[in-house]
Amino acid sequence: MIRITGLSFQYGGGEKNALSDIDLEINNGDFLGIIGSSGAGKSTLTYAMNGLAPHHFRGDFRGEVTVNGLDTRQNQPEELARHVGSVFQDIDSQMLASVVEDEILFGLENFGIPHDEIERRMNDALESTGISELRSRTVASLSGGQKQKAAIAAIVALRPSIMVLDEPTGELDPQSSRMVFEILKKLNEEHGVTIVLVEQKIMLLCEFARRLAVMDGGKLILCGPVKDVLDSADRLEDAGVNIPRVATLARRLRERELYHGDIPLDIGRAKIMVEGILSDAAL
Ligand SMILES: Nc1ncnc2c1ncn2[C@@H]1O[C@H](COP(=O)(O)OP(=O)(O)OP(=O)(O)O)[C@@H](O)[C@H]1O
Ligand SMILES: [Mg+2]
Repeated sequence: MIRITGLSFQYGGGEKNALSDIDLEINNGDFLGIIGSSGAGKSTLTYAMNGLAPHHFRGDFRGEVTVNGLDTRQNQPEELARHVGSVFQDIDSQMLASVVEDEILFGLENFGIPHDEIERRMNDALESTGISELRSRTVASLSGGQKQKAAIAAIVALRPSIMVLDEPTGELDPQSSRMVFEILKKLNEEHGVTIVLVEQKIMLLCEFARRLAVMDGGKLILCGPVKDVLDSADRLEDAGVNIPRVATLARRLRERELYHGDIPLDIGRAKIMVEGILSDAAL
């Protein structure tokens, strides 16, 4: 688990805090979505989770972050990476090898995984991300979605208990984005991997995440189960986050006392909401 207590961080040379007084606990098995406008501090928060802040990004670090009980100030990012695997916002800076299988191999060798286990881990990682056929392809020849999957596979092979991904679908079309979310859901549900996902696509987040954290100006302004966070639509909009249209619709229907249920988090449940109202109206 990740426990963040009273965390503030200011980049060396920065003028204001990139993170201000953050308290956040992420339990094992959680699927947490982090959302907020540009510059809100989302990437910096992920750096606090994988130790890049303060070890790589130096600055004024206050408070405490522990990852599976390890204090991030006292443990180097290389050590923390055994617990928390990171997929960065700038994917091209992450992929070091020229061929997909070498990218996965590189991490496994770096972690000192015994040779007889490497092949099994490689196959499992390729299979669970659905890219077995891309094994021998060059990274340069992959599409955006394939590259994201390869980056995720390279982390999956290392079997961290927590994965932190920073806008992994930023450059992807809706269909490829959904495929990446499906991979994360499977890792979460079938392998118990804790997922922390920075993402702008709120509709997908609402459908797949269990909890949402909303950031604004370096602060964590809301955090809780997805439907509770959507109930605070005004605060979300103040933070520059557009709430899904279906949530707006549900709120308006509630205001008119036409609907009393939870905010639907996917199209299937939105359909049930609308059909319920229509059948009530027909009575
Ligand atoms: N390396 C750095 N040095 C100094 N300041 C930085 C650095 N990286 C980010 N910042 C500042 O810290 C604040 C938070 O930035 P951060 O990158 O965490 O935001 P973000 O929510 O990830 O934004 P985006 O959605 O654009 O990725 C911003 O004011 C930014 O200018
Ligand atoms: Mg960012």
